[in-house]
Amino acid sequence: MKKEITVTVNGEAITHTVPLRLLLVDFIRDECGLTGTHVGCTYEGRCGACTVQVDGRALKSCMKLAVQADGKEVTTVEGLAREDRLHNLQKAFSRYHALQCGYCTGGILMNAVDFLNENINPSEDEVRRALVGNLCRCTGYSHIVEAILAASAMRHGLKPVPPPAETEPAP
Ligand code: FES
Ligand code: FES
Repeated sequence: MKKEITVTVNGEAITHTVPLRLLLVDFIRDECGLTGTHVGCTYEGRCGACTVQVDGRALKSCMKLAVQADGKEVTTVEGLAREDRLHNLQKAFSRYHALQCGYCTGGILMNAVDFLNENINPSEDEVRRALVGNLCRCTGYSHIVEAILAASAMRHGLKPVPPPAETEPAP
């Protein structure tokens, strides 16, 4: 069985007729062509690479059906930047070297944006807890945590801890 749905994806209303069992992540990737949303754990809800925002809240899009997003607003990692301006968190990820292969990065960004919207000035522990559903095989997480803390500090006009490469070398 199929159903016509209209989902606003990154500000654009998209109407498609989709199978009832089509997963939201497959709708985003295959029907919308937005491949920044990744599948890292064969749809088991473990890796977080498929994280997007639905009506402003982060969720794993392999755990939702496309029909459940009917009438809702979906934001993917492609929707974070505004024209040619990166989102502050994207800038922080670049500056703090918070990615290597980048497979996890889109999902982590979408989760972290929601987290920072809900948490003013979070502690390192709170950031680490927020990342528990996002697996990264490359970075060891330290730079990701630093980037999220730096983005939070900059948002509130505070001076963030500088990235390692910008720290004065020991005499
Ligand atoms: S693909 Fe969705 S959590 Fe891994
Ligand atoms: S940067 Fe490679 S999995 Fe996170």
